[in-house]
Amino acid sequence: MWHTEPARSRPMGRALARAAIALAALLLCAPQTALAGPRQARAAFWRYFRQRFPGIRMSDYARGVPAASGQHPGPRASLYAAALTKGRRLWTTPFPNGHTYAGCFAHGGVGAAAAYPRFDIATGSVQTLEMALNACRVHNGLPAYHSLVRGPLVDLDAYCKALAIGRTIHITLPTRAAIRAFARGEHFFWARRGQRNFSCATCHVQHAGQHLGHAILTAALGQGAHFPLYRPATRTWIPIARQYRHCLHRAGMVPLSADSRTYRDLLLYEMYMNNGLPLAGPDLAPRSTPIPRNKSTTPASLPTAENFAGKQLLSRAAVCFSTLDRGFS
Ligand code: HEC
Repeated sequence: MWHTEPARSRPMGRALARAAIALAALLLCAPQTALAGPRQARAAFWRYFRQRFPGIRMSDYARGVPAASGQHPGPRASLYAAALTKGRRLWTTPFPNGHTYAGCFAHGGVGAAAAYPRFDIATGSVQTLEMALNACRVHNGLPAYHSLVRGPLVDLDAYCKALAIGRTIHITLPTRAAIRAFARGEHFFWARRGQRNFSCATCHVQHAGQHLGHAILTAALGQGAHFPLYRPATRTWIPIARQYRHCLHRAGMVPLSADSRTYRDLLLYEMYMNNGLPLAGPDLAPRSTPIPRNKSTTPASLPTAENFAGKQLLSRAAVCFSTLDRGFS
């Protein structure tokens, strides 16, 4: 008698186990399947720039366009090394409890910056390196720094990035919420907005390598891989949040604050596109020099942002590109 009971329940148990495995597989694989979108978007992004500027090594994008044009002679690090002293001092000075920033990151912070911004599963949002540094202070009983874009936090940011120079950028999208954050960032990058009806892609994909006034339009690939920028004349670091603000202002768009969700999602998108490039930051603020264009390719045959890997510059209003093009040379 005793064996009939388990015999009856076994198929039931097996069915349950199968259902549980199927559910677990569904839950585990769902982000994997959804990841195909970001992976394909990144591959298309790389393909576009490889085709557009065939003379440029992919790893050079990490130094910005001027680096690719051979404008960086020798090690530039010596030019901003002194500026890193402040950050190094802050990084190595123990908190009142004896701990240091190094204790908040894997491997004492060496190489950590190459994985930022990271998607924080606990809060369900993107955490920038500056936010992680501030969280480290709070964790160790100190108040967070008020400003995310100037002062000691930017010095720390620069030093922490210097500890990761040469490390391969590796941004992960661990959950569906992370993939949604990526998608929001992607949308922000491609959507036209503001008085001039530009998108980030108008200047940094479609017109990359051209001039706008005296400034060169840098390629979107590599953006964020060499920040903060050091400007020796004013002895200041320019974190990427300030660069975004500058770009938004220039294009007549509403600025983003460095702790807004939109800003963090945009940074996640830009840095995910850089996956595989070496982190090259911090860096010197570049001088403007045109990059070599693929002269043999006529602009008409280039993949333009309008047909860029199935991505559209999301139109807010119909804008004639020939009108828009007049400002670019
Ligand atoms: C009207 C054209 C224009 C638009 C639109 C624009 N930018 Fe820029 N951007 C520039 C120029 C020109 C530079 C070169 C540096 C400078 O003059 O500030 C630049 C530089 C940058 C850099 C630094 C690049 C480097 O490698 O040093 C980043 C990052 C950046 N832009 C991001 C963005 C993002 C994100 C958007 C959309 C929110 C955007 N830009 C929109 C013109 C533009």
